[in-house]
Amino acid sequence: MKKIITASPEGTEGWGFKIGESLKIKEAGIVFLYGDLGAGKTVFIKGIASALNIPKRDVGSASFVIVAEYETSPPFHHIDLYRLERDDDIEALGIWEYIDSDGITVVEWAERLSEVPEEILKEAIKVRISHCNENSREIIIEGVPDSLFA
Ligand SMILES: Nc1ncnc2c1ncn2[C@@H]1O[C@H](COP(=O)(O)OP(=O)(O)OP(=O)(O)O)[C@@H](O)[C@H]1O
Ligand SMILES: [Mg+2]
Repeated sequence: MKKIITASPEGTEGWGFKIGESLKIKEAGIVFLYGDLGAGKTVFIKGIASALNIPKRDVGSASFVIVAEYETSPPFHHIDLYRLERDDDIEALGIWEYIDSDGITVVEWAERLSEVPEEILKEAIKVRISHCNENSREIIIEGVPDSLFA
């Protein structure tokens, strides 16, 4: 587990990029992001996406999109559960199929997942972001090797 404080959106995005680079090498991975409105989850995901050469402006640009799929190599899926309240809706989305599929899947508002299979939780990188003040955030990252932070 690693605790980081960032002082700007660029700082948060930079850590996302680092995680994105490591997932790109592995060509697979799951990232669960937790945190309040405006914490910086999408900013972090823009960093991951830019490691796959996805333009930052394309990430999270349409607020009504629940699943965005990018045909990158490896494929990238960005799932935002904010608008899904009911477990049934989340199941209907086929979230576990995305997670099982090839490539990288990132899940924003992962606190909405009521039951995560143990083997998925073990495998996933967990990113928890909280507000410190206007421009700084505390980010707790679990599930990545310490060498990433060296
Ligand atoms: N250190 C920081 N890290 C990340 N974002 C920051 C930071 N400081 C300020 N911000 C601002 O906070 C906002 C974070 O927005 P973002 O859309 O990433 O949040 P979110 O967690 O995805 O929220 P939502 O739940 O609404 O999707 C942006 O406007 C960003 O500029
Ligand atoms: Mg967001």
